[in-house]
Amino acid sequence: METNKRPDSMARINTRELAQAFIDEQVAALRAQVGDKKVLLALSGGVDSSVVAALLIRAIGQQLVCVHVNHGLMRKGESEQVVEVFRNQLGANLIYVDAVDRFLTRLEGVSDPEQKRKVIGAEFIRVFEEEARKQEGIEFLAQGTIYPDIVESAGVKAHHNVGGLPDDLKFDLVEPLRLLFKDEVRQVGAALGLPDTMVYRQPFPGPGLGVRCLGAITRDRLNALRESDAILREEFDRAGLTSRVWQFFTVVPDMRSTGVRGGARVFDWPVIIRAVNTVDAMTATVPELPWALLQRITDRVLSEVPGVCRVLYDLSPKPVATIEWE
Ligand code: XMP
Repeated sequence: METNKRPDSMARINTRELAQAFIDEQVAALRAQVGDKKVLLALSGGVDSSVVAALLIRAIGQQLVCVHVNHGLMRKGESEQVVEVFRNQLGANLIYVDAVDRFLTRLEGVSDPEQKRKVIGAEFIRVFEEEARKQEGIEFLAQGTIYPDIVESAGVKAHHNVGGLPDDLKFDLVEPLRLLFKDEVRQVGAALGLPDTMVYRQPFPGPGLGVRCLGAITRDRLNALRESDAILREEFDRAGLTSRVWQFFTVVPDMRSTGVRGGARVFDWPVIIRAVNTVDAMTATVPELPWALLQRITDRVLSEVPGVCRVLYDLSPKPVATIEWE
């Protein structure tokens, strides 16, 4: 039985050398555990699953089968990056599933935030299960469980939805990061050669853009959300804020507001900018962003994103407001 308790003697992995030593040790342990069997992994492109994938590719190469489900709720360019890094650069055995239409159809008319999360989680398991059944000889399921997941949620990783697979698909678990803290996972990811944009990726909710396209998701608002989010990220990057603000994103509510474009009245969507600093996501403050930056983002969103006529900056700290809007 593998330990789920971090030994007091375990050194904090805070240098490249310690990360390398961890990798060497895990590669040997993974080879011993897996032998010549196959391992399945749901690869979302988040930090944890990406680092697990890179570690397993190093240890067992083509015996790892990665499944990336594009549920249509990823940020702009994220699914493409997963394919580029893992299939093209690292040569992984990667199955890319375009499930965009499936998810958006299931989500039609679903406006309650918790119901949306449930629908997304359940559909994810269904898609993953279908892919798992197509594979032969899988004996292990790899997961990006990290130490805080074990400590905080009794071992159940909320956004690692593959925990809900049916009994005949209950594989043995491979969880090489289970004793690591987030900063250690990043060290290991960097030592494995993953790009900084993946290793230092800001937290992104499991249901993705689904909880930022408020109310019942529609394709036009989802597009406005994805495009405005991409502009926000680009401008934060350019202003050197990406590593200085903990989490930032846009939100598109399900209400229209009046605008005027080309001399005619329009009835279009507002876009809300959310940016927060926090240590543990339990409380959060709102950074004072340069006015010129806010203006530039506003100008770009209004001129480049179809169907948007207004941009707002949410000044609410947590509490009382939560970080996400839903
Ligand atoms: P709130 O909105 O509760 O968010 O202040 C705190 C942190 O949790 C993230 N978050 C989620 N992560 N599934 C996730 O994996 C979710 O359903 C979810 N909802 C919120 C949020 O992005 C923030 O970092």
